[in-house]
Amino acid sequence: MLTKDQLQALKQTDVSHLYRLLEEASTPRDLRFILEHLGHLPADFDAWVFTPYLSHESSDIRYWAVKNIGKSANPFLIARLAQLARSDPDAMVRREAVSSIGRMRLPEAIPTLIAQIDEPDPNVLLQVIRGLLVFRHEPIVQEALQSLRDHPHEIIQSTVRGAFQPPTSKRTNHGYTDTAAWLRNVVVHADVQQVLPHVPDESIHLTFTSPPYYNARDYSIYASYTAYLDFLTDVFQQVHRITKEGCFCIVNTSPVIMPRVSRAHASKRYPIPFDLHARLVQIGWEFIDDIVWLKPETSVKNRNAGFLQHRKPLGYKPNPVTEYLMVYRKQTDKLIDWNMRHYSDDVVAASRVQGEYETSNVWRIDPTSDRVHSAVFPLELCARVVRFYSYVGDLVFDPFGGSGTLGRAARDLGRYFFMVEQEPRYIERMREVLGMGELFEEQPPQFLSLAQFLRQEP
Ligand SMILES: C[S@@+](CC[C@H](N)C(=O)[O-])C[C@H]1O[C@@H](n2cnc3c(N)ncnc32)[C@H](O)[C@@H]1O
Repeated sequence: MLTKDQLQALKQTDVSHLYRLLEEASTPRDLRFILEHLGHLPADFDAWVFTPYLSHESSDIRYWAVKNIGKSANPFLIARLAQLARSDPDAMVRREAVSSIGRMRLPEAIPTLIAQIDEPDPNVLLQVIRGLLVFRHEPIVQEALQSLRDHPHEIIQSTVRGAFQPPTSKRTNHGYTDTAAWLRNVVVHADVQQVLPHVPDESIHLTFTSPPYYNARDYSIYASYTAYLDFLTDVFQQVHRITKEGCFCIVNTSPVIMPRVSRAHASKRYPIPFDLHARLVQIGWEFIDDIVWLKPETSVKNRNAGFLQHRKPLGYKPNPVTEYLMVYRKQTDKLIDWNMRHYSDDVVAASRVQGEYETSNVWRIDPTSDRVHSAVFPLELCARVVRFYSYVGDLVFDPFGGSGTLGRAARDLGRYFFMVEQEPRYIERMREVLGMGELFEEQPPQFLSLAQFLRQEP
């Protein structure tokens, strides 16, 4: 039985032996083993030895043969790969054929790649684009790529448009890390819709919030579910405007249940995270992740009592032990590295997430109760979000501040907070939670009415 090490050794010492092994491989399994483990090929390796396998009945073998041809940079094999790219019945083989042509990085491949620009499979077309981008300075390539600017596929469109954006310097700092002093550690006691229009564009690094739960709690009165979603859409549109490029917004929601009107009626469940999601994406928030906050079953309301007794199908009601943290990023062509590059080495070192951390998207955290507010974030939940999604010195925002848990976590972790809350009793609770600031604290918390806040606006 041939081993990977033997294969590697043969490449150095006896290539013709390797050609023979390929020719004589008696089963598709042996053949695939060799093709898959050839690795980097010497410059004088004869890639024509792979061509018989381009018509092998196994798509797996054809795939690996194509992949190896791509390592050869042999311009005479481009036509064979192009043929496969057009006609192979397997989408993976067609994709790999184009990818291999691109990886050869040969100018001779340009006409072949341009001829593939009408490729209907978006995954294959993305490989065509990738291959052409190597030659993006050639006018003929530019013309071909520009024809895809309005392609209906979102990734194709953004890849092509992004390729023709002016380059950004490595460590630009167009105010990215700056925070407005008049917003730092400020709590505004007002309706958030009145506050947001006065907050300047691109002033926030991170938003983490738990919006009102439709009409399921005492503090929220909306005319209808649609009116509620419209309200949140307006708030998150403003949050989008005031968020810095490529920064995050994390929204904590869960479906809510409205109790039945009488025994003759059914209760109604509203899937808030799912309905809100569509609207957030529409206004320019790019979906990044869904984190599930998992609570112990003993901490949630039991809906099982009836089913436990009667056990009749259709009457099953699971206890909801989860809430969502939907993670969004303000849409941009820039990779996340672009955001990271703005911070000095000192800030990066101070912000690094130390020690153990949750690696999965299921966060097991006990809920917290508060003597004043009925639905507060656990401090640990806020601390995780702040540590994972912001840097020291950033400005962290909660448009529905409640008892101010996010502000407390932000301050504990060396970030600034900015929060809005409309209920006087929660503002009072915030004063207790946040205190009046430590003696000599650089930026002690400020509690402002709307009028006072507007007077601070520069
Ligand atoms: C789910 S609670 C947030 C609790 C908060 N995360 C905490 O840890 O305490 C939602 C909050 O939004 C506030 N709120 C609702 N509508 C508002 C509005 N239009 N403007 C400002 N605050 C509002 C409510 O008073 C409530 O305190």
